[in-house]
Amino acid sequence: MLDILILAAGKGTRMRSDLPKVLHPVGGKALVQHVADTARKVGGEHLLIIVGHGAEKVEEKMAAPDVKFVLQAQQLGTGHAVQQALPHLRNDATVLILYGDVPLTKAETLQKLISKVSDSQMGLLTVNMQNPTGYGRIVRDANKNVIAIVEHKDASDEQKKINEINTGIMAVKAKHLQKWLPALSNNNAQGEYYLTDIIAMAKADGTSIQVEQPDAVEEVEGINNRQQQAALERFYQQQKANELMVAGVTLLDPSRIDIRGNLTAGRDVVIDVNCVFEGDVVLGDGVVIEPNCVIINSKIGNLSQIKAFSHIEDSTLANGCDIGPYARLRPGTQLADDVKIGNFVETKKAVIAKGSKVNHLSYIGDAVIGSKVNVGAGTITCNYDGVNKSKTEIGDNAFIGSNSALVAPVKIAANSTIGAGSVITKNTEENDLAIARSQQRNIKGWERPTKK
Ligand code: UD1
Ligand code: CA
Repeated sequence: MLDILILAAGKGTRMRSDLPKVLHPVGGKALVQHVADTARKVGGEHLLIIVGHGAEKVEEKMAAPDVKFVLQAQQLGTGHAVQQALPHLRNDATVLILYGDVPLTKAETLQKLISKVSDSQMGLLTVNMQNPTGYGRIVRDANKNVIAIVEHKDASDEQKKINEINTGIMAVKAKHLQKWLPALSNNNAQGEYYLTDIIAMAKADGTSIQVEQPDAVEEVEGINNRQQQAALERFYQQQKANELMVAGVTLLDPSRIDIRGNLTAGRDVVIDVNCVFEGDVVLGDGVVIEPNCVIINSKIGNLSQIKAFSHIEDSTLANGCDIGPYARLRPGTQLADDVKIGNFVETKKAVIAKGSKVNHLSYIGDAVIGSKVNVGAGTITCNYDGVNKSKTEIGDNAFIGSNSALVAPVKIAANSTIGAGSVITKNTEENDLAIARSQQRNIKGWERPTKK
């Protein structure tokens, strides 16, 4: 039985932000959300989040059936924070203590830590740092057994030389916490109730302290300022890029891709530089993404090509589509196989059937377009009268001449042709040619005006 505590009451002064620190993102996801997601992975079916600064915002963001919020109105230290949760812990549970501003700990690392806990043992996650300044130091006896943690501000010069530091993350039986925490005092350099003081209590109580260490120091790094946030963001992105390459994706430069969500890619996908993926994005086999594309919550079918500087959101593309450069597919765009959307074309709620083309400078909104349709350069679906949105329908094999305005609601039947420059306000029937533009007059022998 596992209860997981996430400490998230601190202010985060050094972020210089109106947003509570734990709600700042890494990889597009709030820090404390990373922690909660990992907690769920290790089987924490009961999450307790200690909130204080910005409590309302944190609670709003993190509300879930398996989460309970515990208010720490005044932040009197990490030990005090855990004390607030004592009434909510289940007596025979193992308690894992995590920090809302330490986002990238691996579930496997925590699993190993938890496995060390028993009635006579607790687990402590430590790491060795070249520059341990500011951290709590791990004090060991002559037999290398951990006997205490000393905070930097309380450490002797000799203790300050210790490189092994406390990450803050630990796992311990609830009944031990129930026994030790009420005995904490704040008689120390910072006048705080230190959670770290329970280590010496455990030792005195005959509980042995088992140490676990993470694979990478970034796993236990916290975020206190924007620089640390940026550093962990890069580490996170590097990991994501690695995962993609291991899965067979070609990244032209793994240091120039940003994934803020879940990117799933098929075989032989190629992603050029400076692309951003947000939310859930699925790329089929053989998809090529050229430089500087932004793709959000979309699905792109096999062998489709997204050319440079395209922006795609909440859209679904079937196989063999050819998009951009400089295309913008807005929410509700659904393209069948082999559709071509060219440069400076914007689509929104546009359902386009197989093999149709919108190649240049168009706006296609609230439209259903059949197969093999050619939409000429500069065509606009006039879907908005200032109050209501209306629909444009275009049948299979229609040809829309350049610079046409299709004033919705309007239906262009299959096989009909629209003359270039037309303003179309009436439906057409199959095989019609519709021309709606003023007639050309040629005036013979026209003499140009002369300067007076
Ligand atoms: C703490 C540890 C230190 C460790 C370091 C790792 C203690 C006494 N010290 O120090 O040994 O090396 O973390 O980063 O535990 N928090 C609350 N309520 C409080 C105080 C803190 O929720 O009253 C939360 C903060 O929001 C933060 C975390 O606990 O997420 C750590 O608090 P912080 O003040 O940063 O602890 P440190 O002094 O860095
Ligand atoms: Ca800290």
